[in-house]
Amino acid sequence: MVFITNRLPKAAYQKLSKNFKVTWNKSQLSEKQLLSKVKPYHALLTTLADPITASVLRSSPNLQCVANYAVGYNNIDLAAAKKKQIWVTNTPDVLTEATADIAWALILACARRIPEGERLVRNGKFKGWNPLMLLGVDVNKKNLGIFGMGRIGKAVARRGRGWGMRVIYHQRHRESRVVENRLNATFVSFSDLLKRSDILSVHSPLTSETSHRFTLVEFKKMKRTAIFVNTSRGAVHSEKDLAMALKRGLIFSAGLDVYEFEPKIDADLLKAQNCTLLPHLGSGTVETRDRMAILAAENIELVLRGHTPKTPVFNFK
Ligand code: DGY
Repeated sequence: MVFITNRLPKAAYQKLSKNFKVTWNKSQLSEKQLLSKVKPYHALLTTLADPITASVLRSSPNLQCVANYAVGYNNIDLAAAKKKQIWVTNTPDVLTEATADIAWALILACARRIPEGERLVRNGKFKGWNPLMLLGVDVNKKNLGIFGMGRIGKAVARRGRGWGMRVIYHQRHRESRVVENRLNATFVSFSDLLKRSDILSVHSPLTSETSHRFTLVEFKKMKRTAIFVNTSRGAVHSEKDLAMALKRGLIFSAGLDVYEFEPKIDADLLKAQNCTLLPHLGSGTVETRDRMAILAAENIELVLRGHTPKTPVFNFK
């Protein structure tokens, strides 16, 4: 028996219901609601907004698999799942290019002040060409800083080459020379990443190590002309501190697809004209979301047939 916790492309239901009894819930559930529903199921197909806590996992004695419909899995208590021998899977690869595109959409929107321009036109304030109107910053040949050179970070870096950018990156480990050469990327310290990036794009997962990695202290070290973009998880930066940095002009602008207390957004950030805000659209294309649904369903199918899933978050060894 499989429980799909929320609305998804129907590809997942279509695939799973051929072989399993599937219950499809079509609205966001709280932890309390999940606790009251998950008991009978062998697999859960969850979304990143579902709190899959130790209590939820405990209340489902037959559970073998939690297939998260996302590449991120910070909504799931991994230690509790591992302890209970429950597979946790995610949806890497299939969303890499779409998410990298959204990061680039934000980079260009911020650099060229596209949302501000759009608002100006729609508000009837465009009175003709003006040599000083809404001046942005160049992207061409600038330093593209990547925090977290995983699949999506690499795809963003690859696109940067089209703009003739120098790529610098920081993460726990250095990539191989082959990868660095392919991306024309240089490994730098975190402090150099802050100092040298003209655009700093965040692609790390949210962990205890990366939580609030960007606070006022870090924003103060960045260039006043820098653009900060986060398409990974909101809590990698402090939202209050980012709002303050934007207000004080410590950086030029920010582009966000994710929020610290999603879907709530800091009131000052909502007011900041130099901040482009998207509603967590990273993987939001028809093709990508279908691929994510199919991959999540495949993972469940494999586990329920006694096999190793395609994209497990950890292994039992
Ligand atoms: C993910 O997959 O983790 C994204 O944030 C949602 O597409």
